[in-house]
Amino acid sequence: MLENIKLSDRVNKIQPFYVMELLARARQLEAGGRSIVHMEIGEPDFPTPEPVVLAGRAALDQGLTRYLPATGLPELKMRIAAYYSSRYGLALDPARVIVTPGSSGALQLVMSVLIDPGDSVLISDPGYPCNRNFVELVGGVPKSIPVGPDTGYQLTSELVAEAWTQDTSAVMVATPSNPTGTVLDAAELAAIHAVVRERGGVLIVDEIYQGLTYGKEGGTALALGDDLFVINSFSKYFGMTGWRVGWMVSPEAYVPAIDRLAQNIFISTSSLAQYAAIEAFSVECSSLLETRRAAFKERRDYLLPALAGLGFNIPCVPQGAFYLYTDCSELCNDSFRFSRDLLEIAGVATTPGKDFGNNQPERHIRFAYTTEIPKLKEGVVRIADFLRKR
Ligand SMILES: Cc1ncc(COP(=O)(O)O)c(C=O)c1O
Repeated sequence: MLENIKLSDRVNKIQPFYVMELLARARQLEAGGRSIVHMEIGEPDFPTPEPVVLAGRAALDQGLTRYLPATGLPELKMRIAAYYSSRYGLALDPARVIVTPGSSGALQLVMSVLIDPGDSVLISDPGYPCNRNFVELVGGVPKSIPVGPDTGYQLTSELVAEAWTQDTSAVMVATPSNPTGTVLDAAELAAIHAVVRERGGVLIVDEIYQGLTYGKEGGTALALGDDLFVINSFSKYFGMTGWRVGWMVSPEAYVPAIDRLAQNIFISTSSLAQYAAIEAFSVECSSLLETRRAAFKERRDYLLPALAGLGFNIPCVPQGAFYLYTDCSELCNDSFRFSRDLLEIAGVATTPGKDFGNNQPERHIRFAYTTEIPKLKEGVVRIADFLRKR
């Protein structure tokens, strides 16, 4: 092994995902014969819908394995645009749709296109940890704004206006959010958009958990205008995490620059994944995905009161994604250690707040309900037992 390797300052700043360490440890315990209840995993436990798998297999059989245009397979871009029309009543030019290797690819492109060294990007804390890193990788400065239950763990127009400085060039929100599952109120999102526009910045809205909402049907930020970026993915609602295919909708004027950049960074997104993803919008898939959405809602409705009954405080009922972000300060004063003990002693894997920022991470733990109800019940029994015996 090389000892003194040269790493860029940029890379040295990147924190690991602590949940990955926990997951590795959980797998190690399982390999040794322990049973582990997984409530740490941020991906659906459901397999990719069968029609999508068949379409991917057919594409492989037909030899559709070559590079595609950098902004995506035209037919898929059309299907994505048609989805916005049928589901959200929004007319969208397919030329504004850019298909990317997961929404992670879209995040990388959008930051590269918008941010110059020294520019700051406002993000929420807690929030999806990679966002900070995407900003830093292009020399930008992520400015984390602490958010709590009073604002549904989301940014508000007031918070954005207060935090805005001369070097701010973009604001990023996620709705529903990871780790809190909360949805940004439509009026508040419109107010944020107005502040950002007034100040000459750009709004980026991560809608990767779109479709996974459990109250009224969520909308899309695209309804606010054509000057913002919307990021989305086939990973979560469509159950295609490992296929690595996502998309973004860009303001028209940015498309040539994004095309140029995508050609250079990715050449194109996986051809097989793109042919397969077309099928994700079929009638058959849509009804299956809605059944899964109902299953997630049932899990949330079970797990939330069960955890609250054990002393985990969940001040905002999350309306989306598949996460419960709990305040565990009544039960411990170090969530990282608590999470480790839950794994080692109780055999329950969770994600400590430390993965999502610096805003009181020691008080928080994220539970993912990406496992079926009998397993969630088993997890709750184990946690109760662990708390009783401590
Ligand atoms: C809020 C959010 N954005 C983006 C991503 C990236 O997902 P993918 O690259 O699989 O589309 C994730 C993954 O967990 C996420 O939670």
